[in-house]
Amino acid sequence: MSNCNALFGRLQTQHLAVNNLIQWGDHLSVEDAAIDAQHKAIFDLGASVYESWRGGGGVEVLRPAVDKLANLLPAHFAFEERMLTDIGYEDLAQHMAEHRGMLDELGSMQERFHSFEDGHESPGGSLLAPGWPIMQFLLGFTVGHVMSSDMSYCQTLIASRVGVRGNA
Ligand SMILES: [Fe+2]
Ligand SMILES: [Fe+2]
Repeated sequence: MSNCNALFGRLQTQHLAVNNLIQWGDHLSVEDAAIDAQHKAIFDLGASVYESWRGGGGVEVLRPAVDKLANLLPAHFAFEERMLTDIGYEDLAQHMAEHRGMLDELGSMQERFHSFEDGHESPGGSLLAPGWPIMQFLLGFTVGHVMSSDMSYCQTLIASRVGVRGNA
């Protein structure tokens, strides 16, 4: 019984942890309203994918989310890269390489999701939990990229504005 309770406790904790990781909040602000809004839209999509995933949503439910992500992400990356170019961000090349890696990964995932028919999720291969690769990808974006790499340009961005004001 205690094992059971411990497991339940762990699952609850994991649920809360994942929920927190895909929850956008002011602590994730990069001090740019447009970029914050774009990040929030992607985090919100993550939260809805998480709900679908927990509810056992199949490919037909999750595929539109992957497609939406495939619209939001390239647009966001292009916008961010333009801004980072404008402020002369010193780690731009590395940052763009991270973006590129994520787009490649997303492209493969989208292709995979379109190769599965609704309700037939394992033609030749198995996609036991179709939501899992999207969750992994989204966590890679939220925790792996926004919380670390994007937060890293925040200081340069703020400094560039001070510089602009100072020169004005
Ligand atoms: Fe980025
Ligand atoms: Fe970003």
